Amino acid sequence: MQYAFIGTGNMGTILIESLIESGAIHPSQIIASNRTPEKLERLANKFTELKVSHNKNAAREASILFLCVKPHDYPVVLDEISESLTPGKIVLSITSSIGPAMLERHSHAKAARIIPSITNSACSGASLITFGSRIDASDKQILLRLFSTISKPIEINEDITRISSDLVSCGPAFFSFLVQRYIDCAVKETNISKDQATSMITEMLIGLGKLLEEGRYTLPALQEKVCVPGGVTGIGLEVLDKTTDQTFERLIEATHQKFKTDIEEVTHAFAKSNL
Ligand SMILES: NC(=O)c1ccc[n+]([C@@H]2O[C@H](COP(=O)([O-])OP(=O)(O)OC[C@H]3O[C@@H](n4cnc5c(N)ncnc54)[C@H](OP(=O)(O)O)[C@@H]3O)[C@@H](O)[C@H]2O)c1
Repeated sequence: MQYAFIGTGNMGTILIESLIESGAIHPSQIIASNRTPEKLERLANKFTELKVSHNKNAAREASILFLCVKPHDYPVVLDEISESLTPGKIVLSITSSIGPAMLERHSHAKAARIIPSITNSACSGASLITFGSRIDASDKQILLRLFSTISKPIEINEDITRISSDLVSCGPAFFSFLVQRYIDCAVKETNISKDQATSMITEMLIGLGKLLEEGRYTLPALQEKVCVPGGVTGIGLEVLDKTTDQTFERLIEATHQKFKTDIEEVTHAFAKSNL
């Protein structure tokens, strides 16, 4: 089986590297293309058996095509590779604003959307899968098996795409922002150094992740366990309870508003294209 990766920026590269490093795909099964050649050269130097080419050739040779470009570049790429998008092939979007129905409308191929997360580069975290109407049971098995080597694939319906992406794909950025805030404040308000605070909180987060992974505690049970009656943790949690009121409501409102705009822009870009 040959896999095309069109677009080898951040996410295209992460996917290629993690799928190779997990053993799911051999470099010789990959044909990668990118608008500018420098990023391809880096990949070709790292994985000598990986083939690099241009979009049309990559699409022609592969059975499963990952489109790893920004949403507004999808119509251009789909137009360029349209003759290779035949009914036997699977074309994949990795972006929330382009779903399988949109890919099916603009090609004859089978389609799915798989939203990865930066956590997948550590063969960890979730990925979000929505299958199109032409995908059959054996295609599903192939895609689920592929993504289970680098993530926990979670099948989702179209209507929860944005919120699921917020949690899985944006989540690492949101939570590292909050953690960074905590570190910066600790450094500003106390004698601790940035290195010390960073190292302590990193170990805490790894430990927290392991506890959750092992299923020893639920999130509420963890809070209850750490929070001794009349203790310091409870005072801290009261502050958090008051100060984060509305924080996530606002975040969800903002991401969903941006999502709506992105879909309008993408729909407009498709309408203007030759597809
Ligand atoms: N970053 C994340 O954590 C994340 C997570 C989940 C999903 N995604 C999705 O992944 C997609 C890519 O995001 P990214 O962060 O990887 O962006 P990126 O770093 O900008 O990568 C996009 C790549 O697409 C290439 N490209 C653009 N037009 C092209 C064309 N016509 N033919 C071939 N290659 C083309 C660009 O080439 P140049 O070198 O010329 O710029 C660039 O290398 C987005 O749709 C995003 O929603 C990202």
